[in-house]
Amino acid sequence: MEKLWTGRFSKPLDKIVSEFNSSISVDGRMYKEDILGSIAHVKMLANQGIIAAGEAEKIAAELAKISEEIEAGELEIDSDAEDIHSFIEGELTRRLGESGKRLHTARSRNDQVATDTRLYVKGKVSQISDALKSLIGTLCELAEGHKDTIMAGYTHLQMAQPITFGSHLMAYAFMFVRDLGRLTDCRNRMDYSPLGSCALAGTTFNIDRQATAKTLGFRGITENSLDGVSDRDYCIELASAIAIIMTHLSRFSEEIILWCSWEFKYIELDDAYATGSSIMPQKKNPDIAELVRGKTGRAYGNLITLLTMMKGLPLAYNKDMQEDKEALFDSIDTVSDCLRVFTDMLATMTVLKGNMAKAAEKGFINATDCADYLVKKGLPFRSAYKITGEIVAYCIQNGKSLNALTIEEYKGFTELFEGDIYAAIDLKTCVMSRKSEGGPAPESVMAQIAKCRAALSKYEIKDTDN
Ligand code: ARG
Repeated sequence: MEKLWTGRFSKPLDKIVSEFNSSISVDGRMYKEDILGSIAHVKMLANQGIIAAGEAEKIAAELAKISEEIEAGELEIDSDAEDIHSFIEGELTRRLGESGKRLHTARSRNDQVATDTRLYVKGKVSQISDALKSLIGTLCELAEGHKDTIMAGYTHLQMAQPITFGSHLMAYAFMFVRDLGRLTDCRNRMDYSPLGSCALAGTTFNIDRQATAKTLGFRGITENSLDGVSDRDYCIELASAIAIIMTHLSRFSEEIILWCSWEFKYIELDDAYATGSSIMPQKKNPDIAELVRGKTGRAYGNLITLLTMMKGLPLAYNKDMQEDKEALFDSIDTVSDCLRVFTDMLATMTVLKGNMAKAAEKGFINATDCADYLVKKGLPFRSAYKITGEIVAYCIQNGKSLNALTIEEYKGFTELFEGDIYAAIDLKTCVMSRKSEGGPAPESVMAQIAKCRAALSKYEIKDTDN
């Protein structure tokens, strides 16, 4: 395929250099956006009297045909082309001759690629947001079902205090709600059309940038032509938002992996979401969670790639920027895949409530409640803490739990203990009474679920937003 820049050059590009320079294998996926951008552009050119209306119509119709043919698999994107922009323009010219050559009036690939990428990425952000919403929805449902499932809460991976599995799940739900907010912010900031910035310095033609922005569903235009072609903040912001989503998924994955171990056995993954070993017949491995945890590295790497690529670039467009898409698209694909499998894995797992409850009996997670009991009987917290510490040490020495001590044993530490201590340190009581806002008690969990669901509807992306 002939290069777009013929005229000045006396020989063709070296073959290896041509391959090195090409981005079609990465940007080919933006063919629809490229064609939409070109149709909007050519119609605007006609409306502004820059090219004849009849010619514009012909170009727009042929572009639409090219799009349909690629979609239907009838037209293959030429892997030898430099990029998707040259491929589409070349194909148009091959079909229409002279008319096709008019499309690129008052435009450059620099504003073209920036426009295509924003359009493409905007669509992807909406899809990722939908995937997040479905994950959050699944978490809310699970949490509702486990609002009173008692489990040990941990700090330092040491059993700490009793919580409900529902409250543990809602912690993740709220992380993902924040992720949704980050995606929405970043989508709003990228929603401005750079088309018409041209190579860097706008154009002498009387173009209408507002019109193309409106046709393409952008909320406005970028205000400076140099910035328009060389801004990649939106790529960095999205890669960063995705990296944070992956952090959350990775933390969750780590817990899933732990919970699947025989040492914990809090959950059992569905057979369709776990794998076996080629040698050890007993194994059932949580590969999905491990892969999600592992793929987090890619998302971090892509973010660093983008930041480093942009660092120190002079204005305006530089070819370095062609590298943006490979990194960003990989982050988009990775998080999309991860969110889908992770959500399905959660929805199909079995929660082994009995094991959670049994494990919670160990580890003295009601020790704080024992101290609180003494405080309620009038002792200062620090003194109550010390006595309870001594009781725990006694229990460890004698292989007992707090619930198994006799009232005489309790009274040996302080006369303040009475028969009601047993109810006070019963795990169920301990959880039920932790009903402070945001706490693990069933009613607090239900309040969190309601708030979370209300937050979801706030992030509804309307059709008019594209
Ligand atoms: N393939 C290029 C990219 O993705 C398109 C812009 C090329 N512009 C140029 N002046 N060479 O960045």
